[in-house]
Amino acid sequence: MIGRRPQAACERAGRAIYDVAIFSMTRRYFITGTDTGVGKTVLSALLCAALDASYWKPIQTGTEVDSDSRTVELLAGMAAERVLPEAYQFAPAVSPHVAARRAGVRIDLAKIKLPAAVGDAPLIVEGAGGVLVPINERELMVDMMRQLGLPVLLAARSSLGTINHTTLSLAALRNAGVDVAGVVMIGAPNAENRAAIEEFGKVRVVGEIPWLAELNRTLLLEIFAARFDQTLFMPLARATAQS
Ligand SMILES: Nc1ncnc2c1ncn2[C@@H]1O[C@H](COP(=O)(O)OP(=O)(O)OP(=O)(O)O)[C@@H](O)[C@H]1O
Ligand SMILES: [Mg+2]
Repeated sequence: MIGRRPQAACERAGRAIYDVAIFSMTRRYFITGTDTGVGKTVLSALLCAALDASYWKPIQTGTEVDSDSRTVELLAGMAAERVLPEAYQFAPAVSPHVAARRAGVRIDLAKIKLPAAVGDAPLIVEGAGGVLVPINERELMVDMMRQLGLPVLLAARSSLGTINHTTLSLAALRNAGVDVAGVVMIGAPNAENRAAIEEFGKVRVVGEIPWLAELNRTLLLEIFAARFDQTLFMPLARATAQS
């Protein structure tokens, strides 16, 4: 069980039990975005590589084009068994409720449960599209987030238009009672947009992924080390350094 080793280390050090609680609570995230194509899969791959996490995409549409599970497996360079099977998969690249309807299926939230096999180990779950995307005639992606109960990371573009999209998405998440762990900005770093999102969104920007000419595991790990809030994602490292 991955959660035990750090706990033992911290107990030996006689401190940072609080950090251990954060460690086990926060290394499991639901990744949503302000839009489709914003960079959720790239962020998921970065976190899978950095946190040695498993990956799960509960609802995948557009399998006729590609599969986020396969992309994450390749980008993060992770073992295939760390990529958990989707609950629902549809070929057309359309909204889940439309894809399901076309396939004569109804997406049933009750059937989308965190895979038990993962236990307490780090896990990255990627949504489809954005926060208010319908998954059936009544429920939205945000209902799935609430049901899964994981803290949410919101992937947002860094470019013009992001303040509106990001604050609207944050409002919808909070309105639904979902715990927001932070925003990750993707694209050329933009300090003014970042500051505005933190101020008007009342949220922390916990990471940035610049636009990369090439995407690979080594580069993603470098970006994580340089541009992500290590106190949030690597509390164990902080606890060890303090002991
Ligand atoms: N930081 C980046 N640098 C270079 N390319 C990127 C970056 N982020 C995303 N991309 C590219 O942009 C495209 C969309 O990114 P990605 O697939 O991660 O979006 P998404 O939000 O997961 O989309 P979807 O809603 O379809 O799941 C991909 O071709 C991806 O390789
Ligand atoms: Mg994706």
